[in-house]
Amino acid sequence: MANRSHFNAGHIGMNTLKKQSKSHSSNGHAQSEVPDETIHSVIIKDCREVLRELPDNSIQLIVCDPPYNIQLADWDYHHNYLKWAADWLVEAERVLAPTGNIALFGGLQYQAEAGSGDLLTLISHMRTASKMRLVNLIIWNYPNGMGAQRFFANRHEEIAWFGKTEKYFFDLDAVREPFDEETKKAYMRDKRLRPESIEKGKNPTNVWQMPRLNGNSKERVGHPTQKPRIVIERLIKALSFPGSTVLDFFAGSGVTTRVAIDLKRHSIASDLSPTLSQYLEQQLRDVAHLAHRSQGYSYQIINDLDRHPIISKQTA
Ligand SMILES: C[S@@+](CC[C@H](N)C(=O)[O-])C[C@H]1O[C@@H](n2cnc3c(N)ncnc32)[C@H](O)[C@@H]1O
Repeated sequence: MANRSHFNAGHIGMNTLKKQSKSHSSNGHAQSEVPDETIHSVIIKDCREVLRELPDNSIQLIVCDPPYNIQLADWDYHHNYLKWAADWLVEAERVLAPTGNIALFGGLQYQAEAGSGDLLTLISHMRTASKMRLVNLIIWNYPNGMGAQRFFANRHEEIAWFGKTEKYFFDLDAVREPFDEETKKAYMRDKRLRPESIEKGKNPTNVWQMPRLNGNSKERVGHPTQKPRIVIERLIKALSFPGSTVLDFFAGSGVTTRVAIDLKRHSIASDLSPTLSQYLEQQLRDVAHLAHRSQGYSYQIINDLDRHPIISKQTA
């Protein structure tokens, strides 16, 4: 029996392009040159204030890891979660470029704790109140977590990826995974498959097996809900391009800035808590960054928005 997706217009289009060896339009967007220097604004402010200062259509990717509304910390509760979130979601849509994406973290299993709203509430709101489209619900599956007696121990959180328009940018090649040697050999013998496609590797799918940070992880800088670099890296590689701007207005530990520097994207990170600056200092102590200088590449951290390329380009 034919798979239902065979009748999906999007899939039919993709398959036709594949047969013609062409790629989805999202791969063909004008990408800016890899910059010699990237600029990273770090701001201590409420997310809605920061968003109000950003121009329309200026951001390529928003990494958005909001409070889950489960009272994990004093910032983690809103009496009317959806009303609060709707304010920043509408602004997020405005600031995204037409090729832009937003990756929204959450956990569907927190229904009881989340009370007035969780990721499901946000997804359903976005599907009705915004023009953005849900491209993937990514299942972040980790091997480490709490035990449970009355239900299966939870081992996943979700990341809802929305594209602002149908022209959303997606660089699959940047995040393909190599086939294991045995599979590769078998595929190479298969005359129906193209060797260059096999060499490129496979689609990592929307189930990402990546460990959470343990208490003693070397990556930890002290933020209670710090996300692993490897998760942020995959999002930034696939959903933005060098020289574009990544925004994280719930920046927490500063991990998004750290990864944006490594991947030569500009960034804007903000958080209500001044601890963001201290955490980021720790992130940047890492020797990996010194390597950039020897390659003639540098980055600047600034504490305002005025000198950020997306603003200065407008006023120039
Ligand atoms: C889930 S944590 C983000 C963790 C981050 N993704 C990381 O990996 O380190 C949410 C962050 O949102 C911040 N926050 C909560 N309400 C905020 C608001 N109204 N405006 C800006 N930041 C806020 C908190 O201080 C907290 O650091």
